[in-house]
Amino acid sequence: MTSNEVRKKYIDFFVKRGHVEIPPAPLVLENDPTTLFTSSGMQPLVPYLMGEPHPKGKRLVNSQPSVRAHGKNDDMLEVGDNRHLTVFEMLGNWSLGDYFKEEQLPWFLEYLTKQLGLSRASLWVSIFEGYKNIPKDIVSFEIWKKLGIAENRILYYDVKKNWWSRSGTPDEMPTNEIGGPTSEVFFDFGENLGIHEKSPFKVDKCHPNCDCGRFLEIGNSVFMQYIKTKDGSLKELPQKNVDFGGGLERQAAAVNNDPDTFKTDLFFSLISIIAKNVGEDYDKSGNKNAYRIIADHLKASTFLAVNGVVPSNKEHGYILRRLLRRAIVKTHLLNSEIDPVPMFWQLAQETTEIYDDVYMDSKKDGKIVGEIFKDEVEKFNRSLDRGLKIINTKEKIGAKEAFDLYQSQGFPLELIEELMAEKGQKIDKEEFKKEFEKHQEKSRTAGRGMFKGGLGGHSETEIKYHTATHLLHQALRDVLGDHVHQAGSNINSDRLRFDFTHPTKLTEEEIKKVENEINSKVDEDLKVIREEMPKEEALKKGALAFFPERYPDMTSVYTIGEVDKPYSMELCGGSHVTSTGVIGRVRIKKQESVSSGVRRIYALLE
Ligand code: SER
Repeated sequence: MTSNEVRKKYIDFFVKRGHVEIPPAPLVLENDPTTLFTSSGMQPLVPYLMGEPHPKGKRLVNSQPSVRAHGKNDDMLEVGDNRHLTVFEMLGNWSLGDYFKEEQLPWFLEYLTKQLGLSRASLWVSIFEGYKNIPKDIVSFEIWKKLGIAENRILYYDVKKNWWSRSGTPDEMPTNEIGGPTSEVFFDFGENLGIHEKSPFKVDKCHPNCDCGRFLEIGNSVFMQYIKTKDGSLKELPQKNVDFGGGLERQAAAVNNDPDTFKTDLFFSLISIIAKNVGEDYDKSGNKNAYRIIADHLKASTFLAVNGVVPSNKEHGYILRRLLRRAIVKTHLLNSEIDPVPMFWQLAQETTEIYDDVYMDSKKDGKIVGEIFKDEVEKFNRSLDRGLKIINTKEKIGAKEAFDLYQSQGFPLELIEELMAEKGQKIDKEEFKKEFEKHQEKSRTAGRGMFKGGLGGHSETEIKYHTATHLLHQALRDVLGDHVHQAGSNINSDRLRFDFTHPTKLTEEEIKKVENEINSKVDEDLKVIREEMPKEEALKKGALAFFPERYPDMTSVYTIGEVDKPYSMELCGGSHVTSTGVIGRVRIKKQESVSSGVRRIYALLE
């Protein structure tokens, strides 16, 4: 059975039981201040779990690509064993105040045994042992027993294992967070696999929650029925929900009867590409974990890039950078002869084929992603040798040297920490932070001379991007037509993103033309002039405005070029460079569709 079939069987099974399939949420959350990425299927459903009616009803199902590479959900350093992944697919079904344990547990078991053909004898389950005033989950115990699971395979665990909320245990939950007891199902690959070294349970026998790899958790039914109140206690929600999530990769491994998720068809073609480049079979390699890390990180990076993330030093882009850089280092350590550029390109292309027509389009995404990776890999590769040499010759690396590596070679702190940890060394993070702040202060002072009117809370680079956005807007209108209007914009110190009205994908030629026009305006070193004038007058003069109604009656207008012969003129409250020459090269890196009639462009300064 292929993984695509597993996914389909799951969705069909729940659709047959009255569930409506909902599309997966985007991976990148730009307007959620609490987190960078979607990390579970329930995340976009929180208001409905709290009682708001969902437009599609009370029974929902989907498959949600989920990221676990950030914040509280950071599994990046766990990857390398048989099951941890930074991006995985979560099969989910939800009851929004509709059915509860009595239906959920038998259904899931029926799906596992009848649809996936797993034997009941290979399954174990865990349930909640109770905590403070939340009772022990005897109801689930009875249900599992009635379903034919042997009593000695139904195990009670505490809040650390069998309670779920986005923030962790009941005590860790903030006010208004929802959570509840869980029941998990584990697939047992057989006793002989266990090595038990890492078992946190100090038992001589292996347990479902043992870390040895014998058991895989293949499903988690959360009985989402509590909310944390201001006084710190848990109160029943107005409705009892089920929030189920199970990893597709793990279910596929159970179907394969091999505990290595990297042996499933969701990974093995990636592993094979790596093996070919390294020149050694995965199964024969003593370095399996490096193969796994590279495969996982390239797949995750491809997911992020397809979702519009480009490598940068902040937020989403930084996670992508970390993934790529770790993969580069692991590749280098496996075989220093490998050029990661073509290998990563192949891995990105292969990932889009694994998910072709599901989350990706192999015809177009592979190429775009390959390009994005190429730039990043080439940049980092040059530093890698130098950086590794420094690290390898040192017994000890102090915070200052770590910062220099970070600053001059682009080594992420986490990577330096990881490499030093292999030598039993720790980096003093506080000292590192101090070095970082010292450096920031220095570059701020250096930057001040260049820009009139101070930095206005933005970095030099962001200010350049701001002016580059005006150039882009005008160039798009010149090349595509005056129907082009800004529909959104977002800038950080690593890229600009610009949304605009236009019905079709830009051709390569159009992109080139736009890029050339911007860069020729940079070369002309046009003046950027700020004037205060009544809004009406500015609009009459042809100044562009994103949301004219949002600007005050007296407003500032930025003109690029001469006042009586402007190249671009826009109402704008931001900070700009004083002439375009300082912007440097502008490169359009990616385009995509936002919605019908609206396109998005990402551009970088070089
Ligand atoms: N929200 C639960 C989890 O992430 C089940 O979907 O495991």
